[in-house]
Amino acid sequence: MAKIASIRALEILDSRGFPTVETEVRLDDGTAASALVPSGASTGEHEAVELRDGDKARFNGKGVLKAVSHVEGPLQKLLKGTDPRDQAALDKALIAADGTANKGKLGANALLSVSMAACRAAALSAKMPLVSHLRKTFGLPEGEWLLPTPMLNVINGGKHADSGLDVQEFMLVPVGCGSFHEALRAGAEIYQALKKILVGMKMTVSVGDEGGFAPQLKDHASALDVLTDSIAKAGYAGKVRLGLDSAASEFYKDGAYRFEGKPRTAAEMTEIYGSWQKKYGIISYEDPLAEDDWDGWKHMTGKLGTEVRIIGDDLFVTNPERLKRGIKEKTANSILIKLNQIGTVSETVEAIRTAHAAGYSTVISHRSGETEDAFIADFAVAMNAGAIKTGAPCRSERLAKYNQLLRLERDLGTKARYAGDACFKLASKTAR
Ligand code: PGA
Ligand code: ZN
Repeated sequence: MAKIASIRALEILDSRGFPTVETEVRLDDGTAASALVPSGASTGEHEAVELRDGDKARFNGKGVLKAVSHVEGPLQKLLKGTDPRDQAALDKALIAADGTANKGKLGANALLSVSMAACRAAALSAKMPLVSHLRKTFGLPEGEWLLPTPMLNVINGGKHADSGLDVQEFMLVPVGCGSFHEALRAGAEIYQALKKILVGMKMTVSVGDEGGFAPQLKDHASALDVLTDSIAKAGYAGKVRLGLDSAASEFYKDGAYRFEGKPRTAAEMTEIYGSWQKKYGIISYEDPLAEDDWDGWKHMTGKLGTEVRIIGDDLFVTNPERLKRGIKEKTANSILIKLNQIGTVSETVEAIRTAHAAGYSTVISHRSGETEDAFIADFAVAMNAGAIKTGAPCRSERLAKYNQLLRLERDLGTKARYAGDACFKLASKTAR
């Protein structure tokens, strides 16, 4: 049984050119594996702490040398000689070593990099693909394998681009395609059709942080019109639907949603979302309201929750405790899952389990600042998450995940099926 022999870390750069942490776990059988952590821009208030050095002389304070030293110092000392296959014990030890509720002492970036790298090293040592190792480790049944429905963010707004759009992400959701590779192909073809339409409109086709275009369109309805046209033009009407991430905490100020230049209440926002849902057949709304507007979320879930997926990202921050409150208070009906919002693999799995047990669907997610690490692709399949969002079919840090899913689709063969609309169906009424 291989044991952890050494752990080292490195300050590397993410897709926006900001520092992030890479950690390598080496076992005493010679196996070595690394993991790279991503970083958000529209981060939730309640996320676990991403530790930054704050030394303005380096990377404007964004350096991660402290997190690197925590990995190589206290965390290496803690885990040397332990069994990397026991992920639950390993993550428990990481959480205890930090000792704070928000992982602010050692840093969630330090903790997560170790948690993921150890997981990978254990898989490699056992000569198992990561996806199978994750399944075995967390005791999921072997039987059903779901390839997640991709949610491709093709128009970027909010904090991810200078398009001027309040809504952060406009996503293509190919629920009606027959397989993962056909879904990805649909996304790529629509992306190219969209580019042609934007060029025809004399709009810019430079891209935002997640690879989507960032055109300066008049308003949100114009963006939805352009997307509807691109889907039709590429021949996917009816097969590919639209999903939005408003990241609404970013435009919630002084008790109002500052949307399209006017202050609005949660009820008014819900009306706008309801009208878009009717007109454009939106399949999911992520963070339509602000992260602490529990009453607003409850109202919107009551109004639209039988029609459409309402996904909590900044609201839940992959935190099982916040999710439990949501389930109890009937807020949202789906959760976005980001490993670095909570900081260990085990706690992320707990959030997924809590969601599935309550009938909430799950969407595994990248961050706007990404790396070449494709852990979330294997993770989404291992967990039968049903959906994944990892940007546009553009920029290699985004394609690293989609391409890994193509490999998993090939390798799993007939054992796996494409999730399609499984994640978006609702118990009472199917989303339009
Ligand atoms: P972030 O954006 O990674 O910048 O937080 C992604 C999201 O809000 O889903
Ligand atoms: Zn979000």
